[in-house]
Amino acid sequence: MWFIRRILKVSWKDKNTNDEGFADKSYRVRRKEIADIAFEYKHGQSIPRVQYTDEENATWQHVYVRLKELFPTHACKEHIRVFATLEEEGGFTEHQIPQLEDVSNFLKRKTGFQLRPVAGLLSARDFLASLAFRTFQCTQYVRHGAKPDHSPEPDCIHELLGHVPMLADPKFAQFAQELGLATLGVSDEDIEKFATLFWFTVEFGLCKENGQLKAYGAGSLSSYGELANCLSDNVTVKPFDPPTTAVQEYKDDDLQPILFVVESFDDMMTKMRQYVATIERSYDVSYDPYTQSVNILDHNAALEGVSRGLQNDVDTLIHVMNRFNKPV
Ligand SMILES: [Fe+2]
Repeated sequence: MWFIRRILKVSWKDKNTNDEGFADKSYRVRRKEIADIAFEYKHGQSIPRVQYTDEENATWQHVYVRLKELFPTHACKEHIRVFATLEEEGGFTEHQIPQLEDVSNFLKRKTGFQLRPVAGLLSARDFLASLAFRTFQCTQYVRHGAKPDHSPEPDCIHELLGHVPMLADPKFAQFAQELGLATLGVSDEDIEKFATLFWFTVEFGLCKENGQLKAYGAGSLSSYGELANCLSDNVTVKPFDPPTTAVQEYKDDDLQPILFVVESFDDMMTKMRQYVATIERSYDVSYDPYTQSVNILDHNAALEGVSRGLQNDVDTLIHVMNRFNKPV
């Protein structure tokens, strides 16, 4: 499994000299061509469109069709709901790979998240920090066609089928952003713990629905091998508990043997907030959606700004509740 390589700064060249993609010169050229889009991309620009080849679209279709067979029984209801919407209005079809620009616009309409093209190599700190700004660093290239069920690195099939549907769910998007905000200004040791929490939630998390386990992690939802495995007897399932989950060792080169389950997204959010409150850092932050910036809460004026925003929301809530309760 490759997802964490982006997080642990290990390069494709360093780790995968035997991979089909590395051995195929034309594939390496194609990878560079698509990576250059990310290297040249500037914030605020439209994401350039990629003319995917028939082979790349066939790889996408191979994975898409197989996963769709498993989603009804294995995916959480949030993923199923958004995936249907993506097929209706987000350009998702088994026949061709959607363009990041279109998907990013879909996400902006749903939760304010946006995609930013990335070549594939990022530190955990940089990757997690971008979540604080509701930005998801997203690869645009496709895995090698010789192994459609496996990619040595995250590719757009993983991002689009696994991450995007979950980031279009308001509650999950809030969780992802709070996880990103929690990493700002923490030590390298805590970054490792947050990266591990990311692994066991955003990448491979399980949740409960009517007493049954379902997958909400993108690593499971974008790989039919992982998706079948995650609800099988091969996996030891533990209750999500951030202090212990954060130090759980994991495998990044095989099917997951240990996973963590949350009772609900509310449960996950509550436990994560309690954990974040125990992490030492020199300042607290809040996100300003109007300026899409992060404010450091280290002086009274900043606190007054947060307080004023909260008061406005409470006033609006009281007003609406009074109106609803008023007899017509
Ligand atoms: Fe991922």
